[in-house]
Parts: sequence; C-alpha cells; structure tokens
Amino acid sequence: MKKKLLILTGGGDCPGLNAVIRATVRAALQTKKWECYGSIEAFNGMMSDPVEIVKLTKKKTGGIHVKGGTILQTTNKGNPLDYPIQRPDGTWTTKDISQDLVDKIIDHGFDAVVNIGGDGSQKISQALYEKGLNIIGVPKTIDNDLSATDLTFGFSTAVQIASDCFDKLVTTAESHHRVMIMEVMGRDAGWIALHTAISGGAEICLIPEIPFDMEEVLKKINKRYKNGKGFVNLVVAEGAYEKNKESIGERAIDQGDPHKKLGGIGNYLRSKLEEMGCQAQIRTTTLGHIQRGGTPVAFDRILATSMGVKAFEMVQNRQFGQMVSFKNNSLTHVSLQEATESYNHVDTDHYLIKTARAIGVSFGDK
Ligand code: F6P
Repeated sequence: MKKKLLILTGGGDCPGLNAVIRATVRAALQTKKWECYGSIEAFNGMMSDPVEIVKLTKKKTGGIHVKGGTILQTTNKGNPLDYPIQRPDGTWTTKDISQDLVDKIIDHGFDAVVNIGGDGSQKISQALYEKGLNIIGVPKTIDNDLSATDLTFGFSTAVQIASDCFDKLVTTAESHHRVMIMEVMGRDAGWIALHTAISGGAEICLIPEIPFDMEEVLKKINKRYKNGKGFVNLVVAEGAYEKNKESIGERAIDQGDPHKKLGGIGNYLRSKLEEMGCQAQIRTTTLGHIQRGGTPVAFDRILATSMGVKAFEMVQNRQFGQMVSFKNNSLTHVSLQEATESYNHVDTDHYLIKTARAIGVSFGDK
C-alpha cells in the first residue's frame, strides 16, 4: 500500500506556493511509493466535517509553477491552537483543537505532512509536531522576515513588482516636480522597502527598524527643491513609524485573525508634511496586495521548486519537526523550534543599509 502525504498552504498567499506544491508532488510520485493530498484552506480542510481534501496528481499540478496564489487556498484565520468557535448566541470564543486535529490526520492514514507557510504557520507546525504529527515546514513570506533562512520565495517577486511600480512613479514625480510616496508591505521588517529604495533610486526610505523624524524627512525633501523645481521619491514600509509613536493600522475584524491590519502610513506622511508647510505637491500610492499576486519571477520559481523537492527528501529521511532553509546558497534544514524563535529584522548595520546611506538615501533619522 502507498504512503500518504498531506500538503497545505497557510497564512497570507505569496508567489511560488504552487511551485512548491508541484515540486513536492512530482518528487513524491516519482518514487511510486507515495500518494499526495492537499488540505483546502490550510488545516481548515482537515478540520471540517466531512474533510475537504483533494488528491494531488501530476495532472492536477501540471504547469501550476507559473501561477500566483495557491491552488489549495489559504487562510490566516484557522489556527488550531486558538480556533474561533461561534457560540449559539452568536458571540465568539476560541478553543485549542490541535490534539483532535493531529489524531484526525493520523486516523485518515497520513504518514507525513508538509506545511508551506510563514512564521505563524510554522509555530503551528511546531505545536502539532510536539503532539505527535510527522510534519515538515517550508518557509514562505513576501516580507522575508524568517530568520532561519536567508531568503523566502515570493520576496524577489514582491521586490520586482514594487520596483516596477516605483519606476513608474519616478517619471511622473519628475514631470510634475512632486513628492511621490509609495507605501509597500513589511509589517515588522523593511526588506521590501529597502530593496526597492536601492533598485529604484529612492531619495527617502522609511522602515520599521529605523523610526523616523518628520523634521529630517522634510529637510531631505527641501534639499531636493530649488526655486520650486525638483522631485522626490519616497518608499515607506507599512510598519514604519515616527519616533515615539506606533505603526498605523487597525485591529483585524475577522474572527481568528491575530494581526493588526497595517496601512495608512503613506497618507499620514503626506498630511504631516503638508501641515509642516512642505511646498511641493505630494501624492501617495499604496501597493497593498498587488505585491503578493501574479506570476512569480524565475528566481522564486526555482527557489520554490527546490524547496518543494527538499521537503519531500526530508519526508523520506523522516526529518520531522524541521523546516527547509536556504542558507549560504544551498538548501538545508533547521528545527521548527529554532526557525520560529527569532525574527528577521533588517539589521541597521546591514550592508544594504550602508549601501543606501552611501548613495544618499535618507532613512529619516539624521
Ligand atoms: O505577512 C505578509 C503580509 O504581506 C504583510 O506584509 C501584511 O501586513 C500582511 O501580509 C497582510 O495580510 P492580509 O491582508 O492577508 O491579512
């Protein structure tokens, strides 16, 4: 009898998820000893009754490596450790259903699970592993904020999308002598903003790791204008904030979504600068989920495919409780425990911060 592998995608989507699914399935089917299934919408598919799972064949996964999103769908509202349950009176509570989930997956005859997801998803993987599940993590996030891997797939695509948009804003900034503010994703890490600033040639880059000073931002803008002529392109991460203040966003309204929904720092900057008497016209563009959608760039397809193959190799080697990691230009693995312990913030001494400062990019801090 063939062994059964369960694959799922959790948390926010990201270009490259389908390439991982396809590669894992292909590697598994080649052995002729495994069959693969996908749980729809992260673990929700396994938790629902009847279960919502789909058989992943070569045909079903054929050609999907170029497609954005995830054929298995995803959610950030299905944490089995803190699962939202609606009471008969309509109010909500949460319950830890993780042991039931592990038992159910094992009862359905699954020998191993591959969980493709970010920080939150891999914390869930670790908890399920501790409860007896044979699970392997594959890291994903456009934010590149997982410390145990040098890179995550999806990040390069997001940077490419942001850079393309930034280039378009540069030409219109120049034509109108305007300040163009572009807000990109990056909840707690400014990697997308930093890379875009360098690739696009920004004058100002604001990231969560370097709280900014409005006076410094205005000073940099004014320096670029002579007799009302000049232009400025500024890129800001959604999680960036002014010194002694907090990031801008609202509490999630969806049950089970633990994250504050960030957004609005671009407009905040615009109105602050106007209040401070900035003479130049200012316009704001928020890229939002555009950075997460569409076709993955070639690099991400390759990284995602090799991570998918590595994940299945780890299944065969029974390296459960581990996450695939890209380190020093090679694929390796780290324990899920280690993978979720710390966060990949931009180090203020990072070579790209030094590079940016050396070519005149202001981080609004001096
Ligand atoms: O974690 C990736 C990310 O893109 C963050 O940068 C952003 O804050 C978040 O997802 C938004 O997620 P959603 O809108 O899906 O809740």
